[in-house]
Amino acid sequence: MLYKKLGRSGLKVSGVSIGSWTTFGESVDDDATLAVMEAAYDAGINFFDGAEGYGRGAAEEAMGRVFEKVNWPRDTLVISTKVFGFGDAPTQAGLSRKHLVEAVDAALRRMHLDYVDMCFCHRPDPDTPLDEIAHTMNELIARGKIFYWGTSEFSPGDLHQLHAIAERDGLVGPTMEQTCHSMLHRRRVDGELRPLFDAYGLGTTIYSPLCQGVLTGKYNEGFPKDSRFGRRDAESRKNAISNEDLARVRRLTMLAGDLGMTMTHLALAWCLKNPNVSTAITGSTRPEQVHENVKAADAVEKLTDEVMGRIEEILDNAPE
Ligand SMILES: NC(=O)c1ccc[n+]([C@@H]2O[C@H](COP(=O)([O-])OP(=O)(O)OC[C@H]3O[C@@H](n4cnc5c(N)ncnc54)[C@H](OP(=O)(O)O)[C@@H]3O)[C@@H](O)[C@H]2O)c1
Repeated sequence: MLYKKLGRSGLKVSGVSIGSWTTFGESVDDDATLAVMEAAYDAGINFFDGAEGYGRGAAEEAMGRVFEKVNWPRDTLVISTKVFGFGDAPTQAGLSRKHLVEAVDAALRRMHLDYVDMCFCHRPDPDTPLDEIAHTMNELIARGKIFYWGTSEFSPGDLHQLHAIAERDGLVGPTMEQTCHSMLHRRRVDGELRPLFDAYGLGTTIYSPLCQGVLTGKYNEGFPKDSRFGRRDAESRKNAISNEDLARVRRLTMLAGDLGMTMTHLALAWCLKNPNVSTAITGSTRPEQVHENVKAADAVEKLTDEVMGRIEEILDNAPE
């Protein structure tokens, strides 16, 4: 396993990590969740990503049942939660001090933990001042409930402001941003976030690095029944995968074959090679997927400048 630093922090996270959106507690039952998480841990994955909103708490509960069952030393694990709420009352959503504190306590109860390593603001909340968010996150750090805090899909403007507040008030600023990034979605990491990497050493825990499975090549010739998009209706697939992107993936699959690697390895290795990516959070519905995904780290060295040039030619989607 390749381990990378979370931005300029001292924390080392596995290059490939595992998330729980739509899988644990939902499409993946408890036995399979245990099998996937054990396969991950045994392969050196140390980061497991949760969120209060996933399955309205069910994903974190499922991970909690695994943490109770296995005997993994807590100091070998990096575990996150993300807060934005799923309750119906106005106090059960957003990023207010009240909700942030209560949501972290609830996540700890669901996962049977004393602390989480990372806590993210799952989305921006225009109703809560950025000062309130930054101060609350620092209070949670001081109380030993979280170690690092970050954001998800925040604008560069908000991130600059959060760092300015941290600088002004002597606080720890956001260490990492969780954002969508893959060969098919490059607008943030390869575009608008770039100035923040240099300015603040911002880390990234990128999500959907396989574009929900599209970048494994499994949809090149149709939609297998037992797959995420195979379970969806035609309209929702059409909105999620463009013909242009499918054509790109078909060409990339041929390139991967020429290089003696799978499409999955090419897609993940391409993410891992990027110095601004700290970890790529994958989803897995079965242990075999984990076994395949973790091997991507070995493919990074095959991505020479010449190969990167051929990939760029096929993608032709780099942001300005
Ligand atoms: N912050 C945010 O807003 C946000 C948003 C989205 C996700 N996330 C986080 O990022 C995590 C990963 O997102 P994602 O699930 O979209 O990631 P992904 O890795 O791009 O897609 C995962 C899906 O692709 C399929 N797959 C994975 N490996 C495969 C392989 N080797 N061969 C064939 N199929 C494979 C599986 O689905 P099937 O087997 O069902 O086809 C799997 O569930 C989430 O769990 C969550 O923790 C965060």
